Amino acid sequence: METEQRYLTIALTKGRLASKTMGMLEQIGITCEEMKDPDSRKLIFTNEEQRLRFFLAKGPDVPTYVEYGAADLGVVGKDTILEEQRKLYEVLDLGFGACSMCVCGPESARRYLEGQELIRVATKYPRIAKDYFYNQKNQTVEIIKLNGSIELAPIVGLSEVIVDIVETGSTLRENGLTVLEKICDLSARVVVNQVSMRMENDRITKLLQALSRSVLGE
Ligand code: PRP
Repeated sequence: METEQRYLTIALTKGRLASKTMGMLEQIGITCEEMKDPDSRKLIFTNEEQRLRFFLAKGPDVPTYVEYGAADLGVVGKDTILEEQRKLYEVLDLGFGACSMCVCGPESARRYLEGQELIRVATKYPRIAKDYFYNQKNQTVEIIKLNGSIELAPIVGLSEVIVDIVETGSTLRENGLTVLEKICDLSARVVVNQVSMRMENDRITKLLQALSRSVLGE
């Protein structure tokens, strides 16, 4: 008797990245109808025919699922990959979700970045901020971890600057802040579990090739 092929499991970042990823998968012939119901609270979906399973996780948890092999692949922002530092392969830039990681603050805070002053930096990304200030700028700073609305910090005097994602720049503008330094570019990436990459190489390679063609618009 022929044994059924195992499911290839793909972890998606809940929200906008998941919808864009599903859109791109659809372009390459991978669909998942039950995932399209906007009122559904379901977290896991299967495509029996293609032996694929998708689940929706919080961004920072996607690399965790992939490192432990609970998902073979994942789609997650580069910011999260840098922050989580998990053991996995980052294999493809999907191009969407483009934005950048920046040091931001009021224009008057620019001078704090020129010297060696011990300033406070508020961020949702303490590892990225620490690496940037300690290893790239050689500036000792105090990092303050926040969970959102980071732009508030310099306005209310919690920190001199912030390290945060800038997409359109409107949150900064509307709060009287500006980009002071750019740390790096970000976008959605495909990550793969290191064991799955060997064990499921054929299926994963085919999927990645189709996605790369779609990224290139071929
Ligand atoms: C992100 C980020 C900025 C904003 C940038 O926050 O932290 O606040 O988006 O986007 P913009 O440049 O287009 O204005 P998000 O909306 O994810 O919410 P958060 O404040 O809870 O992190």
